[in-house]
Amino acid sequence: MKIAIIGGGPAGLYAAILLAKQQPEAEISVYERNRPDDTFGFGVVFSDATLDNFEKHDPPSYRRITQEFAYWDDIAVHFRGTVHRVGGNGFCGCSRRKLLLILQERARELGVSLKFEIEIDDESRFADADLIILADGINSRFRDKYVNHFHPELDVRSNYFAWMGSTRPLDAFTFIFQETEWGPFIAHAYQYEAGRSTWIFETDPKTFERAGLKGMDERQSADRMAEIFGWFLAGHPLLINRSTWRNFPMIRSKRWVKDNMVLVGDAKATAHFSIGSGTKLAMEDAIALAEAMEQAPTVTAALHHYEQGRREEVEKTQHAADVSLVWFEHVDRFWDFDPVQFAFGVMTRSKAITYDNLMLRAPDFVAQVDRSFAKLVRARGFDVDVDKPAAPMFQPIRLREMTITNRVVVSPMCMYSANEGVPTDFHLVHYGSRAIGGAGLIFTEMICVSRDARITPGCAGLWNDEQEDVWKRVVDFVHANSAAKFALQLGHAGRKGATRLMWEGMDRPLEEGGWEVVAASPIPYFPDSQMPREMDRAAMDAVKATFVAAAERGERCGFDMLELHCAHGYLLAGFISPLTNKRRDAYGGSLENRLRFPREVFEALRSVWPAHKPMSVRISATDWVEGGITGDDAVLIARAFAESGVDLVDVSTGQTVSEAQPIYGRMFQTPFSDQIRNETRVATMCVGNITTADQVNTILAAGRADLVALGRPHLIDPAFTLKAAAWYGAEGVFCPQQYLPGKDQIFRNSARDRQDFEDLKIKARPKTRAELKAEATKPLAAE
Ligand SMILES: Cc1cc2nc3c(=O)[nH]c(=O)nc-3n(C[C@H](O)[C@H](O)[C@H](O)COP(=O)(O)OP(=O)(O)OC[C@H]3O[C@@H](n4cnc5c(N)ncnc54)[C@H](O)[C@@H]3O)c2cc1C
Ligand SMILES: Cc1cc2nc3c(=O)[nH]c(=O)nc-3n(C[C@H](O)[C@H](O)[C@H](O)COP(=O)(O)O)c2cc1C
Repeated sequence: MKIAIIGGGPAGLYAAILLAKQQPEAEISVYERNRPDDTFGFGVVFSDATLDNFEKHDPPSYRRITQEFAYWDDIAVHFRGTVHRVGGNGFCGCSRRKLLLILQERARELGVSLKFEIEIDDESRFADADLIILADGINSRFRDKYVNHFHPELDVRSNYFAWMGSTRPLDAFTFIFQETEWGPFIAHAYQYEAGRSTWIFETDPKTFERAGLKGMDERQSADRMAEIFGWFLAGHPLLINRSTWRNFPMIRSKRWVKDNMVLVGDAKATAHFSIGSGTKLAMEDAIALAEAMEQAPTVTAALHHYEQGRREEVEKTQHAADVSLVWFEHVDRFWDFDPVQFAFGVMTRSKAITYDNLMLRAPDFVAQVDRSFAKLVRARGFDVDVDKPAAPMFQPIRLREMTITNRVVVSPMCMYSANEGVPTDFHLVHYGSRAIGGAGLIFTEMICVSRDARITPGCAGLWNDEQEDVWKRVVDFVHANSAAKFALQLGHAGRKGATRLMWEGMDRPLEEGGWEVVAASPIPYFPDSQMPREMDRAAMDAVKATFVAAAERGERCGFDMLELHCAHGYLLAGFISPLTNKRRDAYGGSLENRLRFPREVFEALRSVWPAHKPMSVRISATDWVEGGITGDDAVLIARAFAESGVDLVDVSTGQTVSEAQPIYGRMFQTPFSDQIRNETRVATMCVGNITTADQVNTILAAGRADLVALGRPHLIDPAFTLKAAAWYGAEGVFCPQQYLPGKDQIFRNSARDRQDFEDLKIKARPKTRAELKAEATKPLAAE
């Protein structure tokens, strides 16, 4: 077997090591254009879990790496004169130069031929190689040479960054968020060996220009950073080594394999430095490739396995990196946050770390987070315990004069079970049991304002007395038997009307018994859906009147809150999205025009809905389609509704057009809530694939939403909130007296279960710094 490796960075060298171990007879050569000890950058960072992986695959290089590394447990967040230290993070730093020297030495020991100062510009010289590994880094010449095959995607991010070094010792991974006369600067810094630390500076493009960094050379820009961070550097210099300011390129490649050539490391995909995973990903690619080579019968099969098996893991890391970099790009959103909440936001920005897992590693910090959250609630006039506060999800909130006792919400969910719009016993039991289950606020499903406003024949309505009577009975039950507040969601299906029940074909047109549908523009949802009639002004007036009449009925039913449904491509959403509104009159064109009719309806409702009761609007904060609504538009939409008197924006996404490509994942819509809340200061409710109480607390504590709605989880578990209350020991949660023995039991059992769970988690965690250090000094067994 003959293997040629282009690029002697961490990916190329580690691949050489692992393959040489696996196939001692193979002829493996690494071609590197630099000299052996030439290197850019300063330190690299690995988590405990990554080191465990290295230990498994090549103990000798692992051992040398851990002997050279600096270890730390804490992450320190410096912000507005405060510092918050969070322990239990288990990271190691090492000089990139030393890492490469260790890997080179180990590769040589295993018989790999290392050829330095050779720049490869054509792979044809390796015509006799069985395998060619393209480990040529971020600017991969070979990825670009076969651009039409690998299809790399390049997303150049807006923030500028530069890598520098310092002699400043650090005992924690340190983030410094520094206000300057030009704008915010961020330092990501960590020690990688005695007397040496890596410093990555980052700032937004405007601050970059204002600070005069554009025309400066490396030394001048380092001097400027030293001025800004001098208070922390304490006389230590900033060192430079190719420390130019650049924009981070997020690279993703559609294919990683071409014939017997394979991309690894930065050449195939990058991950933003803020999650410290570049070198980790590169070396783990090498592990995946070596494993595939071991298991598959041919090189072709192995490369196929490598790509198939590794892609998901890489994409997950890239997604976490994306979320993290976006957080740093928008740090100004959080600049006026309470520093504890800010630090919690830094820690939980990429979803990998949550409220519950911080509770295991840094209980004091979480206690501080809880206290600071409780203080904010107290500042709003609630008499809550600040010394021993309840978890964020059990803190009350007030919208106008409506107080909600906790932050968990049952999202609006159509049950498709009404008869001619009249709710049934199913609705009574459904809403009744969810209210008893402890959620602070429950929403009705979309209640249609007229017969022709229905999505399906099973949709509930509020256009006649019979419907009003039954809804009143449901509302009365909820109020008499629970502490939940009850919100009425009013909507009109628009072009998505006259369709089948969910379980008979979602959004598919009715074969018979349909009715005429109307919309902002005559565009059918699916090509074979009914062509909607474009609404004229008279139709708009008529629809508005049905909304107003339904709201008046809702008030008579006793609902506590009113939501206007302007999401998911239904009638009003159809006006807002440019994909579905092609009008040329005052209701089409600009966003302001497209919002005109939805706002008019909202304001009409606001004028009849009692002033002491709140109103929300549900929006689709992105259409998930090029040319549709984006998060930035959603900010403008939220501001416009805020001007019309909205108290809460219910942030959903999509369902506008059938060809949308949503990116699902845990809490996938929360970033939009975060953006809207923290750019507009309007209260938000987030929703979407939020399934655990831990996630609810994480979102709230980080200030990413004011309320958290769960849809599908509540379908299966009406008592989600009561169970979470037992887990967190939130005794104050409402439970009907009939069920108190059950409450006593679950509170007792949960306290025990939680202790067992924490013990197990602690046992399963990766090795700590102290354990690693002890091992690193033990003599090495023969390999
Ligand atoms: C300026 C800079 C500084 C960085 N500093 C740090 C840091 O301090 N800490 C950290 O964790 N990460 C740092 N990174 C990111 C990190 O280096 C990468 O994520 C990681 O090294 C990826 O490993 P790799 O082996 O895929 O690529 P690289 O480490 O980039 O290695 C690719 C190698 O291929 C060689 N090469 C390229 N083309 C050819 C060719 N045609 N012929 C022969 N050889 C070739 C290059 O010289 C290079 O040595 C830095 C990146 C840059 C660009
Ligand atoms: C069966 C079903 C019916 C729904 N009906 C409505 C509705 O009537 N009004 C609405 O605004 N959203 C509706 N939604 C969307 C949910 O409110 C929620 O936003 C979505 O399910 C994502 O949240 P989840 O991941 O917690 O389920 C519905 C969702 C489902 C699954």
